[in-house]
Amino acid sequence: TKRSADDLRSPICCILGHVDTGKTKLLDCIRRTNVQEGEAGGITQQIGATYFPMENIRERTKELPEAANMRVPGLLVIDTPGHESFTNLRSRGSGLCDIAILVIDIMHGLEPQTIESINLLRMRKTPFIVALNKVDRLYQWKPRNNAPIRTTLQEQERHTKSEFETRTKQIMVQLQEQSLNSELYWKNKDKRKAVSIIPTSAISGEGIPDLLYLLVLLTQEMMEKKLMYVSEVECTVLEVKVVEGLGTTIDVVLVNGVLHEGDQIVVCGMQGPIVTTIRALLTPHPMKELRVKGSYQHHKELKAAQGIKITAQGLEHAIAGTQLYVVGEDEDVETIKEEAMKD
Ligand code: GTP
Ligand code: MG
Ligand code: NA
Repeated sequence: TKRSADDLRSPICCILGHVDTGKTKLLDCIRRTNVQEGEAGGITQQIGATYFPMENIRERTKELPEAANMRVPGLLVIDTPGHESFTNLRSRGSGLCDIAILVIDIMHGLEPQTIESINLLRMRKTPFIVALNKVDRLYQWKPRNNAPIRTTLQEQERHTKSEFETRTKQIMVQLQEQSLNSELYWKNKDKRKAVSIIPTSAISGEGIPDLLYLLVLLTQEMMEKKLMYVSEVECTVLEVKVVEGLGTTIDVVLVNGVLHEGDQIVVCGMQGPIVTTIRALLTPHPMKELRVKGSYQHHKELKAAQGIKITAQGLEHAIAGTQLYVVGEDEDVETIKEEAMKD
């Protein structure tokens, strides 16, 4: 039987890697935003979430003929900090996702938080791909904006190609030292046995079509079962924030199920469980970062996967990193309160 796109929820993809490898900049390049330049010290200090509707992904992959068969409704991408002090956020981000992008700077190779990220992904058995970023920094690289990577690689001078090959091989050896087989994605015969490498530049956008295409393809091929829509709500609190005009709000990632305005919810609080009612379900506009202040869209209901800002009374003492529960029609609030406090 044929399944319609309605049956698949949007996959969640987490971006991980060492500090300053270009995780946020890659997202900026896809979103056409400038989040990275607004960060204090150019360092990400929070988990971010951005929803990419399929129409935007189609637009960015149109130069790749093979990218025609994409059936998921969109992609929710979680940005994480690479600075060593944020291991807890990397762990939380990687715990939410179906697939991950591990970003490696082609000029630096594997670094301490690259290895930490590999270990987190391995521990949770999360499939991932490698974005080998900053190819534009190879000597005398000639950029062709937003081009598929193989097109632009072919156009480089011999010595640039040769530097690319040498550095890529070195990084493949370093990955092998972490017991990971890897291969450039167009040479990779068995995507389950070897990690696919996609060379990218967040400055010129080269390789971005390939990266988006591969993400969608892999999630569809490898985890259709996991993406089959389920109604049970699975939702994690990312941040507790006071917003002018809205009071205390929580930013959440809805991994599964549906949330409605007016739903009774339970979240873990510093002084015990918080039972409250969703007053408003807000999202940033598509292709905008949830963690950045902006204007919001109101929704009556929202289906997974989404990054959502929830307004409700009594959220002041909510705790980031815990689960949000919805009290169903014939469910007992007391049981759910106990469940919520186990976090
Ligand atoms: P953290 O979130 O703090 O771990 O860093 P990050 O991985 O998000 O890296 P970020 O996007 O902050 O980029 C770090 C620096 O590298 C910035 O100055 C970017 O402009 C630069 N940069 C990122 N990607 C590229 C790239 O593809 N090419 C070049 N030349 N510079 C890049
Ligand atoms: Mg960042
Ligand atoms: Na940075």
